[in-house]
Amino acid sequence: MPATEPSTSGFIGVFDSGIGGLSVLQALRAEMPQERFVYWADSGHAPYGERSDAFVIERCMRITQQLMAQGPVKAIVVACNTATAAAIEHLRAAYPQVPFVGVEPALKPAIALTRTGRVGVMGTQGTLNSSRIEKLRQMVLAEASPKSCEFVMQACEGLALAIEQQTVKALSDTLALENLCKQHLQAMGPFGQNAGEMDTLVLGCTHYVFVEDMLRKWVGPAVQIISTGEAVAKQTHRLLTDVNRMQALPNKSGDVQLWTTGSLHALEAAASRWLDLTAAHCHLAPVESPLS
Ligand code: DGL
Repeated sequence: MPATEPSTSGFIGVFDSGIGGLSVLQALRAEMPQERFVYWADSGHAPYGERSDAFVIERCMRITQQLMAQGPVKAIVVACNTATAAAIEHLRAAYPQVPFVGVEPALKPAIALTRTGRVGVMGTQGTLNSSRIEKLRQMVLAEASPKSCEFVMQACEGLALAIEQQTVKALSDTLALENLCKQHLQAMGPFGQNAGEMDTLVLGCTHYVFVEDMLRKWVGPAVQIISTGEAVAKQTHRLLTDVNRMQALPNKSGDVQLWTTGSLHALEAAASRWLDLTAAHCHLAPVESPLS
């Protein structure tokens, strides 16, 4: 049995269906530079957003086991809205010794910020059709009452996969991706500051952070675009502080390892493009053994 007892000398595991969670890893490293991180990109099985809950739960269980096999895990950040919606309760039940932090679309900050009372939410089908997001929607509306808000939910079919595939393309080769972003935003309705327009846009998928510039082009400069990386990093920091698992040497720089079940070349490209990390940090995941 691998060592699973969290300790101050362990690492923080982070995973996503692919490279989207690197946006969360970026925020985690900025928040806790002294910590060690192991990131798992399940690109060989991406996207999760158009798969069944059972499939996503099985993948999350496997990845958790892989992370735990690498040494003492302090916490695991599920850096994927779809995986959080489908699997986080199962993970917490199966591995009660591991603190899990999930990622959810930022409906609460959005309702506090909107003035027009219309908020756009982009996410995967899996996230936006989940009972978890419906509960969250009802909870934030009840808490914000009497302020009311309409959340315009757009399941962005194909977008996470297109972002995943973009990593190995030239930086200038973005037309198809830009068109896909535009298509989804257009389907949501008008953005702006006037009554009836959406003045706030929630990025409910960690992949979408990497196309924020393209989304901004379409919605204009005044719309507030909200992602969750920073909030999740702060929450993870708080959690580790509460349970006394923070690395005690603030000047010691932590390290980071990235693993993929997909293409190593694609991971290396994403790591250098978005995190300034070299190929030395990137590894191909071992062949999987049966789930225990
Ligand atoms: N990055 C993921 C999320 O936050 C999922 C994308 C996908 O695999 O469909 O939902």
